[in-house]
Amino acid sequence: MVSEREHVAQILVASNRGPVSYTVNDSGGLDARRGGGGLVSGLSAIGSEAQSLWVCAALSEGDREAVRRGVGEPGVRMLDIDAAVHADAYNGIANSVLWFVNHMLYQTPLEPVFDKEFRRQWAAYETYNRAFAEALAAQAADGASVLVQDYHLALVPGMLRELRPDLRIGHFSHTPWAPAEYFRMLPDDIARQLLRGMLGADRLGFLTARWAAAFRGCCEQVVGGTGATRLGVHGLGADADFLRERAHRPDVGDRMAQLHEQIGGDGDRKTIVRVDRTELSKNIVRGLLAYRELLEEHSEWRERVVHIALAYPSRQDLAVYRDYTAEVSRLADEINARFGTAGWTPVVVHVKDDFARSLAAYRLADVALVNPIRDGMNLVAKEVPIVSDNGCALVLSREAGAYDELGDDAITVNPYDVTGTATALHEALTMPDTERAERTKRLAAAATALPPKQWFLDQLNALRGTTA
Ligand code: F6P
Repeated sequence: MVSEREHVAQILVASNRGPVSYTVNDSGGLDARRGGGGLVSGLSAIGSEAQSLWVCAALSEGDREAVRRGVGEPGVRMLDIDAAVHADAYNGIANSVLWFVNHMLYQTPLEPVFDKEFRRQWAAYETYNRAFAEALAAQAADGASVLVQDYHLALVPGMLRELRPDLRIGHFSHTPWAPAEYFRMLPDDIARQLLRGMLGADRLGFLTARWAAAFRGCCEQVVGGTGATRLGVHGLGADADFLRERAHRPDVGDRMAQLHEQIGGDGDRKTIVRVDRTELSKNIVRGLLAYRELLEEHSEWRERVVHIALAYPSRQDLAVYRDYTAEVSRLADEINARFGTAGWTPVVVHVKDDFARSLAAYRLADVALVNPIRDGMNLVAKEVPIVSDNGCALVLSREAGAYDELGDDAITVNPYDVTGTATALHEALTMPDTERAERTKRLAAAATALPPKQWFLDQLNALRGTTA
């Protein structure tokens, strides 16, 4: 129950990962690191006069220490949820079940298994969602707007609605949504609880019409429809002004020089660039297989192309992610051992997260390879055409949300079709300059149709227009 209101925020955002993280430094002090992304940029659009609050979870020991010491950023409230509860909710349910369902990534002969252990973790997921709902309920002003993010917090809208019927509650899914026949592999009661939890919101946002339709289909089959809850589509675009400015700072120039050295040749080698967090959905392994097939089938590209694969670590607490990351390195090494020469390394892999290097790779890209198995949007597909110095050809999976907006000017691929992807890479590498320039221009225009600030404001305005 809400006894006392500690704050009176008018606009609240809730997400598992917050906009800032802390590490304990050698002298025992706390170093803060601010993150980027659409929400950070979007929230900045409302200005400091509107009282806003971002509620997030403490994710690391540094974050927990910050909460204990009362260190924090204005407008951010970190919840120090019991570490074991958080691990079960985040690793066990959010990343190992809900994320897998929505990306349709299970190898179904053996998984998922919904047993007693699953039920135990689900109880932790409920506890973790309740902690968010209670914090939001305690800090929201009368009639405030609350924007809840993602599958980590799917139960929050329903829980919060019970605590505070006066609030306007929105929820946004940054992932795809699974079609009903896949979604229904969840135990029936869990499927119902999950959908009803989300339907506690006034409005649910999705990145594409395809994901919204899939959600509607699940609701129709599992809980008889979406009731009074509205569904909306907001296709997050890239932040062109920020990217163009940031991509021309000196640190990016330094990284370009380093990459040039690794590419080698006399500046006449082409580059195929990919930049991903190494998530199981990104299909980096099949991308490498396609590149290997390109070198096999089109030997004219040997010594004339370099594949730059920036594969930054993600969710390394999960064994399946660690194994996948290892397979990416193994395959890249194998390709280099097989085709490499004294003056040519066919694949350049970097695994240390470095935003400046990502931008440097974008600027150098002749071809961008974005071939996810399934992806909510994929902002890399939108960012490369904006930043690339000489225009780039985009090889894009038809299973990425970005396909809806960029498909016409990309070379599109079925992400499972390695031979088809190799052919698409060849086509991209041989695209005439004028065609490449024209397509890049149109891709960049489509990619910036809904910049993060507008994306955020549109959701807020739509939510405020909702009758409760
Ligand atoms: O895969 C994309 C995604 O699941 C987003 O939906 C979400 O915002 C983000 O990743 C969460 O990532 P992390 O687990 O690193 O916090």
